[in-house]
Amino acid sequence: MTDKITIAVSKGRIYDETIPLLAKLGIVLKDDPKKSRKLILDTNQSNIKVTIIRATDVPTYVEHGAAELGIAGKDVLMEYSGDSLYEPLNLGIAKCRMMLAGLKDAKPIIDRPRVVTKYINITRNYFADRGQQVEIIKLYGSMELGPVLGLSDWIVDLVDTGNTLKANGLITLDHIADISSRLVVNKAAMKMKNKLLKPIINQLADIVENSES
Ligand code: ATP
Ligand code: PRP
Repeated sequence: MTDKITIAVSKGRIYDETIPLLAKLGIVLKDDPKKSRKLILDTNQSNIKVTIIRATDVPTYVEHGAAELGIAGKDVLMEYSGDSLYEPLNLGIAKCRMMLAGLKDAKPIIDRPRVVTKYINITRNYFADRGQQVEIIKLYGSMELGPVLGLSDWIVDLVDTGNTLKANGLITLDHIADISSRLVVNKAAMKMKNKLLKPIINQLADIVENSES
């Protein structure tokens, strides 16, 4: 259908910061996702639907055209291996940093350092660029626990206030990337539904520009 648009939005903090952005576009959810079990939510605009999904699934839906638009963190997009996403806009929300961190009182590392992360590709590329051999261990959450319990020497994870690192006796060792949420667009839809998508992208760009100035 050329006249319908689905927007895939990451759950959690990105969703919370996306709702005011959508409202400025004149798009308001009809259902409250915190109360409803519906996975596709209607909006006040009959041709626009919103689906709120796991962060890591957003690029998959958009790349395959199941959603025309997506809102996801740069961390997720850097980690994602697909290449057919158009990324026209930095929305400047859910800002944080991708950091290498380790214990404040770490003992010297004798063997190949072990690193826990959920960002396997980013971590692999980071150390490959430095020519450093490491053992990467995949975790799905609470990365900070890795060094504390001796699972790893270092972590690669997101840092915002630094409170989680501090509360667990960790310090930052290197800054890997600045992270914020991006608008992603399915490339085929960009051509086929240009008349619908272009005004949304342009209006979002204006909103972002005005919120920065
Ligand atoms: P999942 O449950 O699928 O693993 P998640 O726990 O990573 O998701 P969130 O923690 O809400 O979900 O993170 C979603 C996105 O929010 C991340 O991809 C990132 O872009 C951003 N983000 C994560 N942590 C922070 C933070 N501390 N401060 C600001 N933005 C963050
Ligand atoms: C994220 C990230 C860090 C924390 C950093 O975790 O993985 O643990 O935020 O934020 P801070 O520097 O402000 O403390 P989140 O709260 O999303 O938990 P999760 O990793 O278990 O999803």
